[in-house]
Amino acid sequence: MSETTTKPAFVNGLEGIPAAESGVSSINGQLGKLYYRGYAIEDLAEHCTFEEVAWLLLYGELPSQSQLATFDGQLRQHRRLKYNIVDMLKHVPVTAHPMAVLQTGIGALGMFYPGREVQKPEVQQSAVINLISKVPTLVAAFLRLREGNSAITPRDDLGLAANFLYMLTEREPDPVAARVLDVCLILHAEHTMNASTFTSRVVASTLADPYAVVSSAVGSLSGPLHGGANEQVLYLLDSIGSVDRVDEVVGGMIDRKDKIMGMGHRVYKTKDPRAKVLQKLATRLFDHLGTDERYEIARRIETLATERLGSKGIYPNVDFYSGIVYSKLEIPTDAFTAIFGISRVAGWLAHWLEQLDGNRIFRPTQVYNGAAHRELTPMHQRG
Ligand code: COA
Repeated sequence: MSETTTKPAFVNGLEGIPAAESGVSSINGQLGKLYYRGYAIEDLAEHCTFEEVAWLLLYGELPSQSQLATFDGQLRQHRRLKYNIVDMLKHVPVTAHPMAVLQTGIGALGMFYPGREVQKPEVQQSAVINLISKVPTLVAAFLRLREGNSAITPRDDLGLAANFLYMLTEREPDPVAARVLDVCLILHAEHTMNASTFTSRVVASTLADPYAVVSSAVGSLSGPLHGGANEQVLYLLDSIGSVDRVDEVVGGMIDRKDKIMGMGHRVYKTKDPRAKVLQKLATRLFDHLGTDERYEIARRIETLATERLGSKGIYPNVDFYSGIVYSKLEIPTDAFTAIFGISRVAGWLAHWLEQLDGNRIFRPTQVYNGAAHRELTPMHQRG
């Protein structure tokens, strides 16, 4: 079939076109359900740790106690960065966006660890452990270094979420805060065939090494149409400032048909199940660490938006409450998408492994809409 002569139907953004067969996760947008490997997100959030969920995504089953102990032990053992990588982080501009640093840092990790023989089980295993364990250290190290502080050596007596909070603040992590972050990581770990997951599968299909796969996916996630909405929600809440201004400001936005960040979803036509879990977490966190007026503002926005936009299927998505939670955990606003990335590494790697199994390189076609064959005029004859 020639690309230049046939005109297959073109679907902008590939909306509704299956790009892969996958058993990693599934969504029911009408009912507001999300499943990882068949398990409901609410059950995973209530009963599991992020490490347990990462194993589930990667290998398809919940780990046994000994499998989890081995996996978690390996993750704890491999958290440290080589000094060359920390040195590199010291030399990036302090104004760099954390996502740019994360993408570069993951690419740099690929120069230190074997990754090219992607079909070898030991290469796959090493990449999974290195990426899930070192990405949080990369993010925390950059956030410290850009403030003029030294990077903190990870601890191996803490779970992944608690250790991340420790590396950020150098304080003993609060157990409630650590569990809240742990659940946030579970909620963001996987979400079917979104742009960054598609990116990871396309790059995986070339048999590129897993560090190239994950750094490409980070680049895809960094765009404001994908990973950046939670940052925007926080800016909106800050600009509103108090609950009594919500009706005027957000009512005006709805009248003008402005988009409210953190609301609406291409697939969910009811409240995103992750937003429901996050809202409970936010309540728990504020009961424990003290309230935040931004939460009250957000709740009033949700009520107003549901009244006015609910009939269009516009409800809070995962980003609506996650920014408020991250802010309470002392995570800087411009690092919110990088926290998403720490978690989504597990999903991207699960898709990498799935893609390698029965791989066929992605090579879609196009609908050519350029010029037909033209005669070339040599330079000396052109004016
Ligand atoms: N606030 C207000 N109105 C919204 C809205 C929002 N966030 N999202 C959609 N709408 C309205 C549209 O104006 C449109 O109204 P109309 O029918 O009167 O023209 C209707 O709902 C359908 O919108 P549409 O853009 O076709 O929905 P979509 O499925 O293509 O968009 C998003 C999904 C996520 C792109 C969109 O809801 C959005 O931009 N949300 C804000 C950004 C965000 O939170 N992104 C993170 C997603 S996890």
